[in-house]
Amino acid sequence: MDKQVVEVLAAYEARIAAERSGIGQTDPDGRDMRMRAIGPDAGRFLNILVRSLEAPVVLEIGTSFGHSTIWLAEAAQAANGRLITMEQLDYKSTYARDMAVKAGLGDAVDFQVGDALDLIARLPFKLDFVFLDLWKDLYVPCLDLFYEKLNPGALIVADNMIRPGGDNIRAYARALREKPGIETVLLPVGTGFEVSRFIG
Ligand SMILES: C[S@@+](CC[C@H](N)C(=O)[O-])C[C@H]1O[C@@H](n2cnc3c(N)ncnc32)[C@H](O)[C@@H]1O
Repeated sequence: MDKQVVEVLAAYEARIAAERSGIGQTDPDGRDMRMRAIGPDAGRFLNILVRSLEAPVVLEIGTSFGHSTIWLAEAAQAANGRLITMEQLDYKSTYARDMAVKAGLGDAVDFQVGDALDLIARLPFKLDFVFLDLWKDLYVPCLDLFYEKLNPGALIVADNMIRPGGDNIRAYARALREKPGIETVLLPVGTGFEVSRFIG
């Protein structure tokens, strides 16, 4: 991995440690500054999966401040693919874009700002990999939208499937298993990754 990418990931890890000790939850204007990032092991796992694909079109739903974005973008670029990442809050997306540029990954990522449900509905192409990590009540509505756009063999990874869990997560696990052509397994990576494959 390039030195620039390693340095940017190290900066995120320092910020994750600060966040976990209660520092930097809001800014002076009261804006939410929490990254709620997946962490390095989960990031590495996403990176390994995406790097195994050929020229993949990767969609991230829930950019936040862009920690998972760096792991996905580095892999998408290495695999001659590209990443589209969606976030509703512009200040988070702007920070994520600046960090991607610092990492030398700016050209590999399309940063989209808005409601993911609108943005997914408007995507004009098919997807090879989806990382789902926004508010949990939106997991099923997002699945219903991006399922129609999956290429055969596409992978889907959903975060927080073990912690914090809850009704919305159980609803997603059920909805996924009801979709035709989906194979799926729950893995204890990070706070729980549901890893699914669309057979076609
Ligand atoms: C758990 S955080 C994502 C963490 C990020 N994937 C990482 O690991 O660094 C979830 C993000 O989803 C965003 N979000 C929530 N609802 C959304 C929506 N309807 N459209 C787009 N983004 C949304 C939130 O603003 C928040 O930044």
